[in-house]
Amino acid sequence: MSIRETSCTVLSNKAVADGIFEMELSTDRVDDILGGQFVNIKLPTSDTLLRRPFCLCDFDERRKSFTICYAVVGKGTETLSHVKTGEVLKATLPLGNGWDPRGKYSKIMLVGGGMGSAVLPAVARRSEGVDCVCYLGFADKSKAVLEDRLRSLCSEVVVATDNGSYGRKGFVTDVAKEDIIKSGVEAVFCCGPEVMYKALKRALADVDIPVYISLEQRMGCGIGACLVCNCMIERDGKQGYYRVCKDGPVFKLSEVVL
Ligand SMILES: Cc1cc2nc3c(=O)[nH]c(=O)nc-3n(C[C@H](O)[C@H](O)[C@H](O)COP(=O)(O)OP(=O)(O)OC[C@H]3O[C@@H](n4cnc5c(N)ncnc54)[C@H](O)[C@@H]3O)c2cc1C
Ligand code: FES
Repeated sequence: MSIRETSCTVLSNKAVADGIFEMELSTDRVDDILGGQFVNIKLPTSDTLLRRPFCLCDFDERRKSFTICYAVVGKGTETLSHVKTGEVLKATLPLGNGWDPRGKYSKIMLVGGGMGSAVLPAVARRSEGVDCVCYLGFADKSKAVLEDRLRSLCSEVVVATDNGSYGRKGFVTDVAKEDIIKSGVEAVFCCGPEVMYKALKRALADVDIPVYISLEQRMGCGIGACLVCNCMIERDGKQGYYRVCKDGPVFKLSEVVL
């Protein structure tokens, strides 16, 4: 599959939670998208040179569009939040390896922490024939996103908040751990902050189920050329640097040196 820059028309851009936006953009690459991949978007301003990476949150084959779900954390995402319907953005997609559970597993668990949840709808949508159960964790109710979208794609969605203001109280990794064994899932796909991966590694140390995680690193080129996004992976007893943008962002949790 080739990577190429495309011009994408903004179909909508709206706030969906406190400081969090969803933007839908047109694309002619929708058939190529795999869950876990990302898009690099050029911002419509001359003072932010580097493109900004976002998970391909969801896609719509009929509308020929994809969606990103993003938190406003700095200048680039602030600029993005003011983009209007009809504007055209340059974007490179789909990037990264992605993850395809079809034909390998019959039941999987998707676990999202905060904005890491943004990758899960596309994973669930590209899991035809696979039963997906989903666990979402947020700091509090004001940050909870994507629940309705995931309810339409998964057989079960459980939400947890750290302070108990919505859904179950507690960290999503603790809530999910209780259910992983009894629910009979054959693999877990997780996206969230590094602290969550460390917790998951500890929590599932005795459980023999493959766990895949999506890593997030500061990025430069997004296509494997600049080595800004290196991470340490241990494979076949040997440690080495791998590029999150090209070799990942999806890796097996057991291989990632945290
Ligand atoms: C593969 C990938 C997928 C991503 N998907 C999403 C997504 O779906 N939704 C979303 O909201 N964000 C996502 N991000 C993070 C997003 O790219 C950054 O939040 C964004 O680039 C920040 O740009 P900015 O100019 O607003 O902030 P900046 O001014 O560049 O930075 C503001 C703050 O955000 C932190 N930050 C910036 N980039 C990253 C990063 N890559 N990882 C961790 N912290 C960062 C900085 O350290 C700083 O504290 C993803 C990142 C990667 C690498
Ligand atoms: S961002 Fe350039 S190699 Fe990954």
